[in-house]
Amino acid sequence: MAEPKRYYVTTPIYYVNDAPHIGHAYTTLACDVLARFKRLDGYDVKFLTGTDEHGQKVEKSAQAAGTDPQAFTDKVSQNFRDLADFMNFTHDDFIRTTEERHRISVQALWNKLIEAGEIYLGSYSGWYAVRDEAFYGEGELTKGPDGKRTAPSGAEVDWVEEPSYFFKLSAWQDRLLQFYDDNPDFILPKTRRNEVTSFVKGGLQDLSVSRTSFKWGIPVPGDPDHIMYVWLDALTNYITAVGHPETETGEYATYWPADLHMVGKDILRFHAVYWPAFLMAAGLEPPKRVFAHGWWTNEGQKISKSLGNVIDPHDLVATYGLDPVRYFLMREVPFGNDGDFSHKAMVHRMNGDLANDFGNLAQRVLSMINKNCAAAVPHHGEFIANDADLLGAADGLFDTLRGLMDRQDFNDALEAIWVVIRQANAYVDAQAPWKLKKEDPERMGTVLYVLAETVRKLALVSGPFMPQAMDKMLDQLAVSAEHRTFAFAGSEHALIAGTALPAPEGVFPRFVEETEG
Ligand code: MSP
Repeated sequence: MAEPKRYYVTTPIYYVNDAPHIGHAYTTLACDVLARFKRLDGYDVKFLTGTDEHGQKVEKSAQAAGTDPQAFTDKVSQNFRDLADFMNFTHDDFIRTTEERHRISVQALWNKLIEAGEIYLGSYSGWYAVRDEAFYGEGELTKGPDGKRTAPSGAEVDWVEEPSYFFKLSAWQDRLLQFYDDNPDFILPKTRRNEVTSFVKGGLQDLSVSRTSFKWGIPVPGDPDHIMYVWLDALTNYITAVGHPETETGEYATYWPADLHMVGKDILRFHAVYWPAFLMAAGLEPPKRVFAHGWWTNEGQKISKSLGNVIDPHDLVATYGLDPVRYFLMREVPFGNDGDFSHKAMVHRMNGDLANDFGNLAQRVLSMINKNCAAAVPHHGEFIANDADLLGAADGLFDTLRGLMDRQDFNDALEAIWVVIRQANAYVDAQAPWKLKKEDPERMGTVLYVLAETVRKLALVSGPFMPQAMDKMLDQLAVSAEHRTFAFAGSEHALIAGTALPAPEGVFPRFVEETEG
């Protein structure tokens, strides 16, 4: 029997200390595009997102807001949920680390680690950055002129001394290196993989996994003076959501190990070093892949609250529209690299790629059909080589994209689609169907049919990136809802001649600069 096609993809869970911004929307968008792609390709998908609600950073933010942490997290978590709906994300579950299912799961994981002899009680003295919720060694810090030390991320650190449980991470060095060797695609992109392996080769220290100086967290079983280190708590969300501690049946048995944890480059170490070590130590399987994407800057500047240049996805969408924003973020830079958001680049993509290339193609084809073919899918005659070339190129996209999407290569996936869009526009110019109306109406029908079929395939394969716009395009080709999956991509499910088509309508607005006066 064929392997069931399943796909489990997760976003990081977002700290609720702050309002959601473009960085959060970006990580989840990448997962949404993948989840939609896999669903269209016949996979049973589980797509998880949520909020990370414990720890010192959230506790401090709640204090600053003058509320108790639970009320605070309820409120901010809802903002993340709202953003996900606003961005048209299709997650199947939204987990909060303050939920009861999660407490049970984290405490069960802790007990497994205790039983395996992987955790011992000691005391921690060292540096801690609340902003990163991370421990740092003296050697990693930079000392400023005022004597203040900062972490490589720029976060301030405090000296901490407290009793603490430790996870025996130092004992996992060789097994982790072996695991990376056996699973060469566990960490992508490759450059990030090299960073992680050299970090691990440099030697690992045991990791402090409990805190005693504040209360906002999940209590350590049997020793409630300790609460669990927020990263141990947070990482466990990925298995909580598939029903851990139940591992034999149900969703865990179906979906774990996850196919992909999508993360930003700043949190790769937690996912690619600590997390597989925790899981293997507890006798559980590590995930199949961690992909670390890059960071966005705003008009060349680092995005930060203090600079006041945080990009609110709501503003972006209000200015440019949702699908153009989704397209831009996935298209502008090779996924994994840092990217710069600029108004100029956004408008360039919107007017060039979307309105001119794709929009114009669809609009030209649909209006010619509307005018010259009685607003119905035209009949076609024999295909000539040029027709077959274009149809073949459009057909080939599905396999090309499967390969690229499996490596999270979104921008090459879109580029591959645009190669066919450009080919189709060149075909329109070369075949000049408007000239054929009098000379050879049958040939005109064939050309327009080939084009309509090509647009259908382009819209299907672009759907995960721009769901609303592509639905609108498929509406205009009268493709029924159940035919909007890759199973119906092939020519055997082609448009049927004579099917009435609605009046064409552009799907990509052009961005026109407002001029004064
Ligand atoms: N709570 C942890 C994750 C725990 S996962 C078990 C966390 N949360 S976060 O809210 O700070 O960040 C979440 C994600 O947003 C990270 O993947 C981070 O890389 C991403 N981004 C934050 N700012 C960003 C940009 N300016 N650009 C792109 N992504 C950025 O870390």
